[in-house]
Amino acid sequence: MTNVNIAIGSDHGGFVLKEVIKSYFEKNNIKYQDFGVYNGEKTDYPVIAKKIAKLVADSEFDKGILICGSGLGVAIAANKVKGIRAVTCHDTYSSKMSRAHNNANILTMGGRVVGPDLACDIVKIWLETEFEGGRHQVRVDMIEE
Ligand code: RB5
Repeated sequence: MTNVNIAIGSDHGGFVLKEVIKSYFEKNNIKYQDFGVYNGEKTDYPVIAKKIAKLVADSEFDKGILICGSGLGVAIAANKVKGIRAVTCHDTYSSKMSRAHNNANILTMGGRVVGPDLACDIVKIWLETEFEGGRHQVRVDMIEE
């Protein structure tokens, strides 16, 4: 597996799936830190999205995973932080391409959208796929500008 350090977080809509992804990390010796929520309590997703996005943008973690009910709100919020390329992926092709072409640094998913096995496949592919660089780097640089 990859040698990355991942920051993971969710709101109440993503709590159950977050716990599934954490079990996957444990089984596969993937280093991570959980920034909550810790018990499914109702919370506002922009708060956790900003927290994880800043940790990744400041290089305190290599990559981030954010889970809410749909996967959408956390992506919209995380993408407000400069340097963040957050993508919502509910299929493995998007997961792969978001790394290969877009150098995504935060993956978001909806706990009310994908089942646990598909979600783990999406995470596995997302972590294993390297950014291809080259012409894609030029385009990513354009996004940053
Ligand atoms: C919470 O009900 C829900 O709105 C949130 O988890 C997320 O899906 C927002 O985009």
